[in-house]
Amino acid sequence: MLDVQYPPAAGAAAARQAGQSADAGPWPQPVRYSPALEHVEPDEAEAVAEVERSLTKIADITYRDEGRGLRAVHAKSHALLHGELRVLEHLPPMLAQGLFAQAGVHPVVLRISTSPGDLLDDRVSTPRGIAMKVLDVQGERLPGSEQATTQDFLMVNAPAFGQPNVQKFAGALKLLAATTDKAEGAKKLLSALLRGTEKLLEAVGAESGTLKSLGGEPLHHPLGETYFSAVPFRFGDHVAKFSLAPLSPSLQALHGADVDLKGEPDGLRLAVESHFAEHGAEWELRVQLCTDLAAMPIEDASVVWPEDLSPYIAVARVSVPAHAPRPADVREREEDALFFSPWHGLAAHQPLGSVNRARRSAYAVSGRARAERNGVPFVEPGRSGGGCPFGHG
Ligand code: HEM
Repeated sequence: MLDVQYPPAAGAAAARQAGQSADAGPWPQPVRYSPALEHVEPDEAEAVAEVERSLTKIADITYRDEGRGLRAVHAKSHALLHGELRVLEHLPPMLAQGLFAQAGVHPVVLRISTSPGDLLDDRVSTPRGIAMKVLDVQGERLPGSEQATTQDFLMVNAPAFGQPNVQKFAGALKLLAATTDKAEGAKKLLSALLRGTEKLLEAVGAESGTLKSLGGEPLHHPLGETYFSAVPFRFGDHVAKFSLAPLSPSLQALHGADVDLKGEPDGLRLAVESHFAEHGAEWELRVQLCTDLAAMPIEDASVVWPEDLSPYIAVARVSVPAHAPRPADVREREEDALFFSPWHGLAAHQPLGSVNRARRSAYAVSGRARAERNGVPFVEPGRSGGGCPFGHG
């Protein structure tokens, strides 16, 4: 039986540091969700329009180069995995929210990606992402996803977003759109150079999101990474960020390990396939409750919420069994039909803050172009009971 204790050990330590008894409480109370937590700036709509223009530009260029509709960002897939999410039993009330209100098992589909909009050689090392679609979820829906019974979680291997708000992000994306091309040789060289620089920066305790997004990401194994929602979401009565952390020993052994690409342009996919040929995988899905709006702001997406004030706590486990790779054409058809968005889900997990508000129309713009170009309508999977929810067996 999966069980959970609250407050967790790390929380108890934080409470003790604050001069409180963790056993007797009081434990810092999570902030209560209210629509008043969000603030829309007057120039937000124009910044969102700028983001949409950049995404359209990226997708147009990659369509011209590749002849098929790609995701405007996170275009390259390194794995499409099928598994299950098990909500932990006996969660305390502040964690038993939304999807996590009821212990139980849900089928999941996971897609591992890297962030650029073009299909780069994996030797150009860029930030990793994981998108997870949880099936058979009941409850009041977010606007625009009323017909579905899924809950999507999109995460990257960084605890905060590179930019505080959509206004700043619009500028960074414009730069990225200008580098979307086929000049891979130059990007490989740039990546090797930036990786060195990034290591130097990390050695002195600084990390540069801009360097990483341009190819300076350490060449780590994507299955050893911890992934984060980076931006906040409603968590029923509260507000939280999410993370997905390696739990099984075979995943933990990959943490921080350089991945051997074996000189292959699609070496990340081969590395993930070789893992699953021998091992399954288990992750913990965790939440970090917002307990202090000054230290854990809603509208500044670039702030890492301090874990000594509020640690990430497990609410579910995600597992994928060992398996042989599926034929590329089957996988690609399924990926084309899949559309992950933070706005697919329950009202209880509404995306919050400037960056998240911008994602609502941005994902729709990219998704619409992709579906039209590929002639593949999106499928929100909804069948439980094991096997592939797309009916591929
Ligand atoms: C304003 C900010 C952002 C914009 C405009 C944006 C835009 C997009 C777009 C257009 C897609 C492709 C949609 C499609 O065609 O299917 C995408 C995918 C993705 N995004 Fe974002 N994004 C933003 C922020 C974030 C953040 C904060 C995260 C997570 C921490 C994130 C993680 C991902 C992931 C993992 C994917 C891949 C989904 C898949 O596998 O299909 N994004 N994003």
